Parts: sequence; structure tokens; C-alpha cells
Amino acid sequence: MKLSHAFFEKNSLVLLIGILIVVSVGGLVEIAPLFFLGSTIEKVQGMRPYAPLELAGRNIYIREGCYNCHSQMIRSLRDEVERYGHYSLAAESMYDHPFQWGSKRTGPDLARVGGKYSDAWHVDHMKAPREVVPGSVMPGYPFLAARKIDAGNIAADMSALKLAGVPYTDDMIANASADFAGQVSPDSKAGKAVLERYPKAQVRKFDGNPEGPVTEMDALIAYLQMLGTLVDFTTFDAAGPNLR
Ligand code: HEC
Repeated sequence: MKLSHAFFEKNSLVLLIGILIVVSVGGLVEIAPLFFLGSTIEKVQGMRPYAPLELAGRNIYIREGCYNCHSQMIRSLRDEVERYGHYSLAAESMYDHPFQWGSKRTGPDLARVGGKYSDAWHVDHMKAPREVVPGSVMPGYPFLAARKIDAGNIAADMSALKLAGVPYTDDMIANASADFAGQVSPDSKAGKAVLERYPKAQVRKFDGNPEGPVTEMDALIAYLQMLGTLVDFTTFDAAGPNLR
């Protein structure tokens, strides 16, 4: 035993190869099964793909680099759960490509910011954070309210996500433009159709300018207001029906 170990210690290349073999066995045993176990990402009721306007808002979130300061993953630690709400489930980011867990919190976690504030609060805060939260180091994004946005290539975006495994149906993709506009016109037929295709979607004008065009502010706030709201945690059971 002593002798054979001395052999490893005296030959650094052999030691290196030995380490690689040991580490890869560990990796195989621990990681490989996760790709095949059905329970790695448990299906959770309520999760659905993003509605087109929400998806456009998510794209703006990524474009503006909000993830540099905000995470979207509540860890199962007591202080986080008390501050932000129920810890994040794997299923809640299952349709995120790329995911927005983030690695830095200059600002608070946003995984459950949906419904925490009114739309008007978000508009004021996005335009001038320090008017709302004195001392905030968040930059303002007032230009979002002035920039018109249309459905553009959101249908192509949805098709691409479908390739990556997001369950967008042909019906959803064909109606992308109609749903995009429908989500900001609550009393219209198109608005009701959005709710049918995307349960729990919030249908209203978000930027506080009901007569105005659809703006990037509308899209971003539609996205922020739905974050963390899809799963109903009053009935959610972490033990899961499969495990009982
Ligand atoms: C330089 C870092 C930074 C960037 C970039 C940034 N934020 Fe923030 N954000 C903060 C800080 C700090 C706070 C806490 C103070 C405040 O509320 O303004 C905050 C707060 C927030 C809140 C309120 C959260 C809560 O629970 O009170 C929201 C919503 C938000 N940011 C959204 C965004 C969005 C959307 C973007 C991108 C368009 C963004 N932030 C970009 C730093 C940042």
C-alpha cells in the first residue's frame, strides 16, 4: 500500500491521470443519473411558456443586463424564504433559455417580484429609481417608456424556443402577434384569447398610458409582474404526489 502510493507521488503525470480517473468516476456516479431520472425536474402544476409580450419583456431584461445585478433564484435558506417567499423550484425556470438565476445580487432577487408592487410603482421605479427608493444604486431606464415595440420576430423567437424544448403549440406561434397586442387590451376578444392560451396571464396596459402605443415598458413590466406567480403555493406540496 505504502509502496504503490509512493509510486504515484514520485511520478506527477501518473498522479494526474490517477486523479482524473477518480474524479470522473465520482462525476459519472453523481451527475449522469440526473439526466435520466424523471424526478430531476418534477413537473409542477401551473407552469406554462411565456406569453409573447412577457417573452418580449424577458428579452429586454436580458438586453439591458438586469441579470448583472439581480438573481432569479431563491435559495432554500431561512432568511431568503422569509424575505422573498417560497424557494425557487427547478420547474419554475424549466422554460428559461437561457436561465436567469444570476450570480450576483447588487439588488434583490426578482424570482417572485410579480404582484409585489403596482404597475405604477414599476413605471416610476424604472424611470427614476431614486425617486422611489432613496439611495438606490439602480440605473434609470426612462427611455423604455418612449420606445414603441411590436410583435416583430417574436413568433420566430417562439419557434426557436420550441426547438429547445419549450412546449409552444402551433396555435400559440400562429397567434403570436395577436396575443402580443391582445395582452394590453383587456376588454377585447384578443385579450380573452391570451388568457385561454396562457392561463394566469395578466391582461392590461402596464405602462400607465392606456391610449398610447405598446412600449418596451409595457413588455418589461408584463414580464416582471408574472415572475413567480404561476405556481400556486397554497396547494403546492414539496413532497410531491410521486414521492408519497
Ligand atoms: C447596477 C445594478 C442594477 C441594475 C443593472 C438593475 N438593478 Fe434593479 N435594483 C438594483 C438595486 C440596488 C435595487 C434595490 C433598490 C431599489 O429598489 O431601487 C433594485 C431594485 C429593483 C426592483 C425592486 C425589487 C424589490 O423587490 O424591491 C426591481 C423590480 C428591479 N430592480 C428591476 C430591474 C430591472 C428590470 C433591471 C433591468 C432593466 C434592473 N433592475 C437593473 C440594482 C440594479
